[in-house]
Amino acid sequence: VASQIDFHARFGGVVPEIASRKHIEAICGVCDECFDVAASALGIERLTWRDLDSIAVTYAPGLVGALVVGVAFAKGAAWAAGKPFIGVNHLEGHLYANKIGAPDFQPPAVVSLVSGGNTMLVHMKGWGDYETLGTTIDDAVGEAFDKVAKALGLGYPGGPVISRYGAKGDPRAIAFPRAMMHSGDLRFSLSGLKTAVVTYINGEREAGRELNVPDICASFEAAVVDVQVAKAKRALDMTGARTLCVGGGVAANPVLRASYERMCSKAGVRLVLPPLSACGDNAGMIALVALDRFRQKKFFSFDFDAKAHVNLDEPY
Ligand code: KG4
Repeated sequence: VASQIDFHARFGGVVPEIASRKHIEAICGVCDECFDVAASALGIERLTWRDLDSIAVTYAPGLVGALVVGVAFAKGAAWAAGKPFIGVNHLEGHLYANKIGAPDFQPPAVVSLVSGGNTMLVHMKGWGDYETLGTTIDDAVGEAFDKVAKALGLGYPGGPVISRYGAKGDPRAIAFPRAMMHSGDLRFSLSGLKTAVVTYINGEREAGRELNVPDICASFEAAVVDVQVAKAKRALDMTGARTLCVGGGVAANPVLRASYERMCSKAGVRLVLPPLSACGDNAGMIALVALDRFRQKKFFSFDFDAKAHVNLDEPY
């Protein structure tokens, strides 16, 4: 993992142009370091591109300017080393990330994917066989954390700082809306909650009252988590799956993790939480998908390109 968060923080969010340029700067160094770490783990002196069986890369979905860098680099390496080339869907990587902390993990499962760009519930019927049960109709959960943090002047990314303040606040202090909690489906909506929090903050400021930041953070988190847990429970009931998994940067949220633990132990469902290092985007989870593709000999041709949008439910 090469993080570039510091370069985006000063702008309060990810700047696509910066993301793309930082990918170019980082990619050679990250690969070199990966070879060094792998060589020492294998107890050999040196590992090179030619020693690999295949070269895999995330090709979709996401910011296309960043994806293009990885795809062009991986194609170049695969072509030069004469290795087969494999494209991986980033979201499928998050599903495979569950193997990192729990090697015995097997579908079927319901997966709650919560990150800065995605909020979805997926029925993982088997490896490579997915049904998206519901997504957000507007903002992603992580985006809501980031926007609320911005409104409170707490900086970017918002998730970690909101969890820190929230731990000291009262989650029942302010009744923020639980959007679409009873909509009867598995879709989410976060933009109304974000607006409710911003309206509350503005109202308090106009009334000359000092903001109780811990209470605002705790109440906002409770509103987010209540809906996530209720919908995940519904998805488990609908599919009959006996395992729940969580992935994406927001999976690091302690209130969400504790609430999922309570719900799953009550429902007698196995909860698989990837280690924190495997929740956010990482190359390890992409390699796990690629390993299955390699065994199935499912390779990409060199005319394949990066894509901003792809449907997780469609095999590729
Ligand atoms: O998966 P990720 O690392 O990147 C992508 O979005 O692809 O997720 C980043 C998101 C950010 O919106 C960040 O605010 C959120 O994950 N996040 C958290 C926490 N840690 C990171 N949200 C809530 N609580 C946290 N502890």
